[in-house]
Formats: sequence, C-alpha cells, structure tokens
Amino acid sequence: MEQDYSKVDAILASYRGKKGILIPMLQEVQNEMGYLSRDCMKYVAKAMQIPAAEIFGVATFYSMFRLKQQGKHIVRVCKGTACHVSDADGIKSALVEALKLPKDENTTEDMMFTLMEVACLGCCSLAPVIMIDDMTFGKLVPEAIPAILDKFRF
Ligand code: FES
Repeated sequence: MEQDYSKVDAILASYRGKKGILIPMLQEVQNEMGYLSRDCMKYVAKAMQIPAAEIFGVATFYSMFRLKQQGKHIVRVCKGTACHVSDADGIKSALVEALKLPKDENTTEDMMFTLMEVACLGCCSLAPVIMIDDMTFGKLVPEAIPAILDKFRF
C-alpha cells in the first residue's frame, strides 16, 4: 500500500530554501511518522533534493532517530551503575523472556512493546528500575516482571 506523505509534505514545505535544516526537519518528520522508514527517508531526499546517503548518514548516526517502527508501549530498562549492580541483567532477561522477543529484535511481533536500554532513569535509589511509557517501577525482582507487563497488555 502506498504510504501517505501529505503531512510530511507540509513539514518539508516549512523547511524549503533554508539552511542547516536536516536534523530539525528529520526530527519533525519522525514525530509525525513515529519513525524514519527507508522509504520515508528516500521520499524526503527526493523532495528536498538532498542526497539520500546524507539523510541515511544523519539518521543512523544520531541515537534520537528511530529507524524501525516502535511498539505501543516503550519499556526502558536501566543499565546504569546502580541498577547494574542490582541485577539489571536479570531484569532485562526477565523482560526479554516475558515479551517473547525474537533474537536481535526489540519490538514484540504484535507491536505492543519495544524494549530499550537506557543509561540512568534518574531514580537510582530505587534500583533496579524500569520505566514503561511514563510509569516507573523500582526495587524490582525478575519474578515481578510478567505481572507488571500484563498491566499494559491492552
Ligand atoms: S542507574 Fe538506574 S536509575 Fe540510575
């Protein structure tokens, strides 16, 4: 099915003719589309007459750009020092198992959850910590993970 880029067109129009636009423009496109697919990047390249390699280069270099579609809920597992010494690895393993994540994938097949690692969630006294969307769960044990995830399976 053809992707509808009419909203992207409106974003691109506001950047046309300006300099130093690549990062803010791609951020805005990502906000609109949820992520930057290959097709979308090619579309932007053609529409803005920017080499596709330049767009791919920027999108793959900066971690704020998402190149894959994300799940409905974002699960952040903290791998910062305080969490690391409090069994963050065990928490992550429990998440991977409960989410039945395929190898080398961080989004569930039903597109309900995307799992990502973060450096510190800013609440180290609660280590180990995860965040699901904007809710924080701390002082976790691996056994608690399935029940927490179940609250978000809707
Ligand atoms: S190290 Fe995990 S919240 Fe700070």
